[in-house]
Order: sequence, then C-alpha cells, then structure tokens
Amino acid sequence: MITFRLNGTEQSLDVDPSMPLLWAIRENLGLTGTKFGCGQAQCGACTVHLNGAAIRSCVTPVAAAQGSEVTTIEGLAASEGELHPLQQAWIDEQAPQCGYCQSGQIMSAAALLATNPNPDDAAIDAAMSGNICRCGMYQRIRKSIKRAAGSEAVVGVFDPQAATEEVKHV
Ligand code: FES
Ligand code: FES
Repeated sequence: MITFRLNGTEQSLDVDPSMPLLWAIRENLGLTGTKFGCGQAQCGACTVHLNGAAIRSCVTPVAAAQGSEVTTIEGLAASEGELHPLQQAWIDEQAPQCGYCQSGQIMSAAALLATNPNPDDAAIDAAMSGNICRCGMYQRIRKSIKRAAGSEAVVGVFDPQAATEEVKHV
C-alpha cells in the first residue's frame, strides 16, 4: 500500500510500487490535469510537485511519493474557486495555444517562484528549459511568469501596479 497526500488529501493506493506516479494521479485518482507527453522525462507535460519540488511524474515511481505531499495543477490554487497568480497570469497573457503542455509549464513555474520570487530571464529560461511547448508559446510563458512574480501568493507582498506595468501584450 502506497500512502501519500495529494493536494492536501491523504490517499492510499494498492498498486505496483514501480508504477509511474503519473498513472496513479490520472488513472487511479482521476486527476487528468497532469498530462502524458513523452513518458521519458523529456517534455515536462507531466510535471507535478513532490514536497514542493517540480518532478516528472512519468518517470517517478509511485513508491517515491510514500509519505510525501504531491501537488498537481488541480491543487495549486490556495482554495477552491480561486486561481493561483500564475494561472491568472496565464489567462491574462493568453499563454496557452493548444494548452497541452501548460499544466506542466505552470507547475515548473510555481516551483521556480517558490524559491526565486522575482526571476530574471536567465533564471526563467533555466528553470523552464525542460518544459517543451510544441506551439512555441515561450515568450508568453516567460511574460506570464514575470506578471505573476511579486504577487502575494508567491512573495507575500502584492504590488498590482508593478505587476501590470511589467508586462506588455504582444
Ligand atoms: S511525459 Fe513526463 S516528461 Fe514528457
Ligand atoms: S500550448 Fe500547445 S504545446 Fe504548449
């Protein structure tokens, strides 16, 4: 039996410990916001947080989550009916095209902002380099991250003036 917390709720699964965490999240626990892309840790579509760190759930065995906190895109916002600042920024900047990569992109960005609340371009590119977007929305993703940076949920002090002036739409 593998027991872990998923988005704040304890879950126990009687599954093969070597099964990818992604399968457990999508197939056993029914949260389909996390996507399967390559299955080889090459695209980032399956990115979730394991104890706050961004990991590729397609190559992480579910056993690695034992006793840990797993967060998916469904659990990123502080409460039901609320958007995380990154999710709002993604909407404001119209970052998604097809959208398939975007939950993984947001989870990687959230892990970045948790450790670096105001990343520069180089820090963003370094943190996001493992997340592939076949639609090529990289510039808008970068702008979205900058838009969300400095908001209350990531640094504790929200300056809406700075947040809106920092980014211009393409
Ligand atoms: S599906 Fe996991 S990195 Fe591509
Ligand atoms: S928005 Fe289509 S793959 Fe990224």
